[in-house]
Amino acid sequence: MPTAFKPGDIYYPRDESGKFIIYHQTDLCATWEALEACKDAGLIKSIGVSNFNKRQLELILNKPGLKHKPVSNQVECHPYFTQPKLLEFCQKNDIVIVGYSPLGTSRDASWVNLKCPPLLDDELLASIAKKYNKTTAQVALRFNVQRGVVVIPKSFNPVRIKENFQIFDFSLSETEMKAIEGLNKNIRFVELLMWSDHPEYPFHDDY
Ligand code: A2P
Repeated sequence: MPTAFKPGDIYYPRDESGKFIIYHQTDLCATWEALEACKDAGLIKSIGVSNFNKRQLELILNKPGLKHKPVSNQVECHPYFTQPKLLEFCQKNDIVIVGYSPLGTSRDASWVNLKCPPLLDDELLASIAKKYNKTTAQVALRFNVQRGVVVIPKSFNPVRIKENFQIFDFSLSETEMKAIEGLNKNIRFVELLMWSDHPEYPFHDDY
């Protein structure tokens, strides 16, 4: 995450009133150099980022003396939030997009923007799913995989976990891919608004 919090053992350090998470102004490039050192020391295999916008990615990519590029950027990505601009930018720079919430999240009101309708109820996804004898979840996952986006669906249910792997025995036509791309609403389920005043909050920018 580009949004640093006060260094220490507490993941989300709060002020004395317990209300506000204490931010930390960070030089993202300095953090990146520390991660590069971890890789060079053999402690980690590769380095990626999450929720970085284009500006923040460019900060790293254009860093003088860059040793290792970010291999991936983990961001929200699904048919209602297709990330066309960030995807193009990342693909040009050989950065893999890892799509979180690829099924449209668990719709937990404590952290999800519920103004966006449930993805898995989408009629177009349902009609395509019917054609291939698949579920809407499988079509949503296949859509991303087919356009080069890695998906990390989450389920606590063994049957659904298996179902989410069964997306490699069918493919969507070009017309279907275009139609699903057309579902993009450009609204995030995961807005992270509680950190929107952080100096490195990534979602004020267009992408
Ligand atoms: P459950 O754990 O009961 O399966 P995301 O991956 O976008 O964060 O979505 C996670 C949500 O989607 C969870 O609520 C999960 O519920 C549900 N889910 C996961 N896999 C499927 C599936 N194949 N069909 C329907 N819902 C699913």
